[in-house]
Amino acid sequence: MNAINVSSLPLTLQQLFRACLEKDPQFSLQNFDYSQEGLVYKDPQLGELKIDILNDSVNYQRQGHRGKQEIIAKAVGLNKGNKTIFDATFGLGQDALFLMDLGAQISGCERHPVIWLLMKEALLRADKSIELILEDAMSYLKVLSESPQKPDVVYLDPMFPHKKKSALPRKEMQIFRKIAGDDIDSEQLLSAALSAARDRVVVKRPLRSPDLGKGKIHSFEGTTVRYDIYKVL
Ligand SMILES: C[S@@+](CC[C@H](N)C(=O)[O-])C[C@H]1O[C@@H](n2cnc3c(N)ncnc32)[C@H](O)[C@@H]1O
Repeated sequence: MNAINVSSLPLTLQQLFRACLEKDPQFSLQNFDYSQEGLVYKDPQLGELKIDILNDSVNYQRQGHRGKQEIIAKAVGLNKGNKTIFDATFGLGQDALFLMDLGAQISGCERHPVIWLLMKEALLRADKSIELILEDAMSYLKVLSESPQKPDVVYLDPMFPHKKKSALPRKEMQIFRKIAGDDIDSEQLLSAALSAARDRVVVKRPLRSPDLGKGKIHSFEGTTVRYDIYKVL
């Protein structure tokens, strides 16, 4: 596949590609395609990954959800007055956009340039105003911990190694996993997150997996995942 011609793209998209190249000089321009419908990443084996928030290409509309009664909303404490949430492992932003729809103010970071680029473009197209920083959370949480305005909540959802036996996720998730890989360094994120949050850190985990670290005060359990709460002392 030919590399995308960055200078033929709309100006905002050119700037996003340049930010990726600045961050990672090895950043590859292969595998991207752009049309009126938006930016697409093409994996030669698995197919296309396109993030379309409004037309729900990756399950942004949680059918039949119970609003602030959902356990993710309880875990971050939306009913307890928490409003500002920093999503340190943004990924495809499904959790962040759901919390935003429930009234939270979201910002976040994503360290993988391909994921960040696809997500930024999708957010722009859907007119969602979220500050999404291309950065490793370990260094950005240090900046936040010294800020006078800490977010109420730092939210962590690092990639958990995939069980060989589990059913294959839908195609988009397979491509996403292939790009992002496993987050084997996530344990260190917890203490950095605790220094950066005003009220609490929420960690999303598969239901039966070990805790990310010590000091959990409560868990909200769903059928496949749980949300662990760590309070700032
Ligand atoms: C499981 S996904 C998050 C999914 C997200 N909660 C959602 O609802 O779509 C984990 C993401 O966090 C990113 N990530 C993991 N560790 C990170 C770190 N230290 N800094 C920034 N991003 C990180 C990975 O690149 C991946 O895109």
